[in-house]
Amino acid sequence: MIELVNKRVLLGVSGSIAAYKSAELVRLLRKQGAEVRVVMTATATEFIQPLTFQALSGNIVYSAWDDADRGDGMGHIELARWADAIVIAPASADLLARLRQGMANDLLTTLCLASNGTIAVAPAMNRLMWDNAATKENMEVLRQRGIHILGPGTGGQACGETGLGRMLEPEQLVQGISGLFTSGILSGTKLLLTAGPTREPIDAMRFLSNRSSGKMGYALAQAAIEAGADVTLISGPVALTPPERAKRLDVNSANEMYEAVMSEISANDVFISAAAVADYRPANPSKEKVKRKDDNVDLALTQNRDIVASVAALANKPFTVGFAAETSDIEKHAMSKLKRKGLDLIAANQVGDGQGAEVDDNAMTLYWADGCQHLEKTTKSKLARQMVAIIGEHYRAAT
Ligand code: PMT
Repeated sequence: MIELVNKRVLLGVSGSIAAYKSAELVRLLRKQGAEVRVVMTATATEFIQPLTFQALSGNIVYSAWDDADRGDGMGHIELARWADAIVIAPASADLLARLRQGMANDLLTTLCLASNGTIAVAPAMNRLMWDNAATKENMEVLRQRGIHILGPGTGGQACGETGLGRMLEPEQLVQGISGLFTSGILSGTKLLLTAGPTREPIDAMRFLSNRSSGKMGYALAQAAIEAGADVTLISGPVALTPPERAKRLDVNSANEMYEAVMSEISANDVFISAAAVADYRPANPSKEKVKRKDDNVDLALTQNRDIVASVAALANKPFTVGFAAETSDIEKHAMSKLKRKGLDLIAANQVGDGQGAEVDDNAMTLYWADGCQHLEKTTKSKLARQMVAIIGEHYRAAT
């Protein structure tokens, strides 16, 4: 199940007899390639030992308040930020009520409150508790808040009754959890994306380049695949493994990137230019390694073609998304690039001082002709999913 490969699932286990099934859930999630960390409520630890989850997940289990601040140095905010999705299975009636109230009276509910990402719950309770008006109201509010509800199932219950309220079986939960990572907004579309830096040769040995690691572009490629797009990734030289289902074309210089984009573009519906393309290249690169002299050297530079602007100028242009990497006056420069390059949307980020390039986290503001949306700092993979959702909406509205 490709959707779960390298996904970070924070599994919350609350107090229910169904907690024993969550041990199998951890095993199956890991088998599908997900990384799993487990947070247990105090009551859950009365049903099943944390050691079971520790052995199956390969990570320490968090339960007490200060657990998140010990051992691996991951505090509770970092833990919430770490997760691509928080999945609470089993979610008891009490846990669901506390979640609905926005309470933070244990580690698990605090993590949910501190998360701006995907949260899913797998209810598990007696059929009458599930049918109770209070539970029904709680579920409705949680659903409206965008929390995903997996199940419950129907059948025999631990209390001897039969009805709706059983936690879904681990195999069903794995299906449901993988579905959290497939929004489908780009289903049926072909998306071309550039990522990473370019290298502009000075001589046989040396080049001009920049700090881009490709992380943002690769995260976007993965998010676009999860959203259903057929992705071609044109990549500058980076040390990253491409998403399994992307077609990757490797290039070095801005000229090579231009040629690769232009030969692929006509087949695509959406173009995202996340690469940090050099604006200039050495005018006269030497085939030989230039010898050191006892004097300064002047390096003449010539302008590269603007790839994203060339795509946006095509008669049959795709929905075109550019980036703006800025150190000051972000909005002003981003809006100017949006207009000047003829883009449909631009994603502006702050660079310099350890921000934007190379690092794992980023924040972004997306601008379009008559609006904008700010996305708070988070991991590049989460940010990419939020960006793809917005790009998808705008693309759909434009076609
Ligand atoms: O790779 P990471 O380490 O994860 O870092 C991510 C990032 C900071 C590189 C990324 O988020 C980002 O900002 N990418 C765009 C960098 C950039 O070149 O920005 P710019 O403002 O200089 O260029 C504006 C737009 O024109 C960009 O979409 C760029 O791809 C495009 N461009 C620029 C020059 C050129 N010759 N051709 C282009 O298409």
